Amino acid sequence: MRESADRAPDDVRPPDVDAEAARFWDELYGQRDQIWSGRPNPHLVDVAGPLPAGTALDLGCGEGADAIWLAGRGWRVTAVDISATALDRAAARADADGVAALIDFQRHDLIRTFPDGAFDLVSAQFLQSPLDFPREDVLRAAARAVAPGGRLLVVEHGEMPPWSRHDHSHVRFPTPEETLAGLDLDADRWDIERVDGVQRPATGPDGQHAALLDNVVLVRRR
Ligand SMILES: C[S@@+](CC[C@H](N)C(=O)[O-])C[C@H]1O[C@@H](n2cnc3c(N)ncnc32)[C@H](O)[C@@H]1O
Repeated sequence: MRESADRAPDDVRPPDVDAEAARFWDELYGQRDQIWSGRPNPHLVDVAGPLPAGTALDLGCGEGADAIWLAGRGWRVTAVDISATALDRAAARADADGVAALIDFQRHDLIRTFPDGAFDLVSAQFLQSPLDFPREDVLRAAARAVAPGGRLLVVEHGEMPPWSRHDHSHVRFPTPEETLAGLDLDADRWDIERVDGVQRPATGPDGQHAALLDNVVLVRRR
């Protein structure tokens, strides 16, 4: 795993991450051997399934299920997270699944550093945080990382899953229209492919069932 895109291999500087945020996410991942389902996110599967393999950037990749799924379909993936615990877990699973050579895991605090490159698909799946997180800035950086002809897919909770352990009572989740507006895209250079809220049946960590609202924004750079 590389600590940062702009770092020489023999440079031992610690990564440029907010220590409190890194600790928060490492502690969350440290609570169990596996936090998420291990399955790729369904909207990513819907969107990327019909696409030819190319280059992808997975922002906030967590335990790597999306990156591993993409790599299994031949995509070359850069997968980024702030949590070293999550990245180590994702890299181990990619190795076990035989796709490690296709995934470049990089540790970034996306508020401070952003991976280099231009990608056919940039995916931000539930890149949401109960901590201070300038998501609009990060999502604009995500749009800038899309190659000509490529797509940005943003999927976010439209409301919190009932099993969430965090207090989101003070949070108002942006609508998909607000998320699109926040990207501030040049209408001459982008096509809007999807802006919608989708109900999805889901199972919580203790087997609870609920219908979750996902907000989906998919845009394509001309
Ligand atoms: C809700 S999880 C979603 C994980 C994964 N995308 C998924 O759908 O399973 C949010 C992820 O964003 C990461 N994250 C939060 N703040 C971040 C930051 N500032 N820079 C990079 N990653 C961050 C967390 O470590 C976590 O893995």
